[in-house]
Amino acid sequence: MSQALFRKLRGTHDLHGRDALCWEELERAASDVFKRFGYEPIRTPILEEVRVFLRSVGEVTDIVQKEMYRFTDRSGDEIALRPEGTAGVVRSYIEEGLGKDRQPRKLYYMGPMFRGERPQAGRLRQFHQIGAELFGSASHWADLETMELMAAVLEAAGIKGYRFQVNDLGDAEDRSRYAEALRDFLKSQTGGWDPDSVERLERNPLRVLDSKNPKVRESLESAPRIASFVSDKSRERFDRILEGLTRAGIAFEVNPKMVRGLDYYTQTVFECTHSALGAQDAVGAGGRYDGLVDQMGGDPTPAVGFALGVERMRLIRARGEAVAERADRVEGVFFIGMSEEAKREAYALLSQLRKAGIRSELDFEPRSMKASMRQADKSGLRFTAILGEDEMRDRAVTLKDLSDQGKGAQERVPWLDLILKFNK
Ligand code: HAM
Repeated sequence: MSQALFRKLRGTHDLHGRDALCWEELERAASDVFKRFGYEPIRTPILEEVRVFLRSVGEVTDIVQKEMYRFTDRSGDEIALRPEGTAGVVRSYIEEGLGKDRQPRKLYYMGPMFRGERPQAGRLRQFHQIGAELFGSASHWADLETMELMAAVLEAAGIKGYRFQVNDLGDAEDRSRYAEALRDFLKSQTGGWDPDSVERLERNPLRVLDSKNPKVRESLESAPRIASFVSDKSRERFDRILEGLTRAGIAFEVNPKMVRGLDYYTQTVFECTHSALGAQDAVGAGGRYDGLVDQMGGDPTPAVGFALGVERMRLIRARGEAVAERADRVEGVFFIGMSEEAKREAYALLSQLRKAGIRSELDFEPRSMKASMRQADKSGLRFTAILGEDEMRDRAVTLKDLSDQGKGAQERVPWLDLILKFNK
């Protein structure tokens, strides 16, 4: 084997073989679930103006300050590789007037996201999300449905045993009262804090709650909790959601410390973790963001959504699965032509089969029968159609069934009958 001259970047993956097939299957299964819940697909660009994320994810967040890939292109535009999906979908929702036809408008997406974190298992620089956003309903039913939708996608992906945590951040007013109280409580305790956390306390106190600095964590132990600032109205709403989750049979825990690392959330937030994942244990997360559309220049529009990390879903699957069982052979025909003339005839037959929707391939190379049969075996297709001298003379193929370790039947089939045989 030759030595590779180039290697992929750390924190990125190539996808091929069975992995690539399973990935496609997962996306297909997720699309089916979304459609059942009344969602439509949306695709937004990977490149967005940097400002889209500053306004939404928040200037004083890890994602924007430490992880976002940003650059100035030749024309001087400030551009970012999207670190998450929600901001672009909101930008598009406003710009394309997606709320005009119908409300609520339910949209789903799948695609690559980029964060320049230190790569480790389950933490990538290019990763993929499957996400959904619902615009135009403030009802608690919308929150409940969104959480059920996330659970349904996980189920379709064959993932069990996850932990579902929820919290209520209150409305914008509750949150800002809480931010004030947190700042007041902590401002006399910043001795030993890193400058970043001190700045955060000033500019965006809630972000201090995500800090990993042990000194900051210590100060937080006795700090006020968001739950004491949430209004009765908000609490009632949250109770209805929890009741709904119970009715839906979704096991959950209320985690009063969870605030999430993005600025746009209001009211309900949720996160799904799995013990198979190790340190980076969140497989999916989401919440309500009632102020964001307005903040990004649209009409005030309540919204709620979530995103699942595809690589993390696949990690859970991989760790839970025994070695993959050998896949069955796929229905289809592998053609072997023993001369150039036979290849020409085989190619014509193969074209007809493909048009009829039957998977077929031709061995392009001139090689021995034995070598060609090895190729046929590797193709994974169930049948091999051989065209040698005798077959050319009889205007037929020798059709071998390779299932059952090659013990399947062998027969002579006239060219004219081949399609008919497979259509049966
Ligand atoms: P998030 O919690 O930042 O939320 O990301 C959602 C999921 O993306 C995570 O739970 C994780 O599975 C995956 N993920 C995030 N970063 C990485 C990484 N570096 N490598 C691998 N996987 C990763 C959001 O992005 C919000 N937009 C979710 C949302 C939608 N909220 C409302 N609507």
